Amino acid sequence: MERRTIGAAALGVGAVGLGCMPMSWAYSASQRRGDRSLRTVHAALDAGVNLLDTADMYGPFTNELLLGRVLKERRADAFVSTKCGLLVGDGHMVANGRPAYVRRACDASLRRLQTDVIDLYQLHRADPEVPVEETWGAMADLVRAGKVRALGLCAVDARSARRGAPGGGYEGTIRQLERIQQVFPVSAVEAELSVWSPEALGRLLPWCAARGVGFLAAMPLGSGFLTGTLTPGGGFEADDPRARHPRFTAEMMAANQPLVAGLRRIAARHGADVTPAQVALAWVLSRGPHVIPVPGAKRERWAVENARAADLRLDTTDLAEIAALPAARGSWD
Ligand SMILES: NC(=O)c1ccc[n+]([C@@H]2O[C@H](COP(=O)([O-])OP(=O)(O)OC[C@H]3O[C@@H](n4cnc5c(N)ncnc54)[C@H](OP(=O)(O)O)[C@@H]3O)[C@@H](O)[C@H]2O)c1
Repeated sequence: MERRTIGAAALGVGAVGLGCMPMSWAYSASQRRGDRSLRTVHAALDAGVNLLDTADMYGPFTNELLLGRVLKERRADAFVSTKCGLLVGDGHMVANGRPAYVRRACDASLRRLQTDVIDLYQLHRADPEVPVEETWGAMADLVRAGKVRALGLCAVDARSARRGAPGGGYEGTIRQLERIQQVFPVSAVEAELSVWSPEALGRLLPWCAARGVGFLAAMPLGSGFLTGTLTPGGGFEADDPRARHPRFTAEMMAANQPLVAGLRRIAARHGADVTPAQVALAWVLSRGPHVIPVPGAKRERWAVENARAADLRLDTTDLAEIAALPAARGSWD
């Protein structure tokens, strides 16, 4: 698989990563199977993926425990990205950026992941009660202590970007990035980026490109929508966030089908075995050499299919056709 580099330390990663979240969190809980997830991670590594993206709060904790079972055997094959700073409370999520908490969280992640170093440690959410420099300073100490190789920040203000915030959105994240860069170099930013959520292209992606900061594209398949395998009105399990997501109502899924149809048309031009999911990922890859999509998957078949998207090159006709697709309807807000 093509390699890409992130951050000032030029850390090498496969161009397509594996988002491990759906194995333990968020989507279709009844479909989670530990053994199948283990096979999926192994299959992704065999296919040339090395970046495994997890977080302590996926599960919570069980996603890291799952990866630990793989890393115990194949640490050298993997680049581990995990996150701290977001806790699952009683039915809601709470940020905790206190330095003492960050130190404890890192030690706990290392134990669960069965490794002595985390390749990329990301701040999942900045804590409004703690100056972000303090949290980042504690994370920088973890690098100095050899527990972590590089630091990243997750950006969460896609909603303001979608609402058409002046300047293209992500102002809050960029302000935070400017502040923490003064404390310790940022190696990667993780934020939503896909054909139906392109907002990060406005300011956030160029900010990263200008500073050699890697960009981990979360939700590159539009939480599964862009794969064309979800049926409008098919329904979601009660605890699946898509059951409450305005873009996943039967009406909006039907209204956004032209996006899937466009990806399908392009896929067909590239071969009978090329899928809309692969075109969606190839589009993300085409956004810059510092961009690494981390598609989530529970199934071995999908992880391998997604890894193969690294070999798909979209031409100018394909890219123009995607640019001309209608903007997605419905939003989080
Ligand atoms: N930093 C953050 O705040 C943040 C937020 C969200 C996500 N993330 C990261 O980004 C990763 C990706 O995002 P995501 O998992 O939310 O969304 P996604 O990658 O856009 O979509 C994942 C969904 O697509 C399905 N899928 C994957 N490959 C497929 C294929 N080839 N054909 C058909 N269906 C396919 C999966 O199904 P199954 O579930 O059935 O396998 C899953 O439901 C996460 O795993 C996580 O690591 C980070």
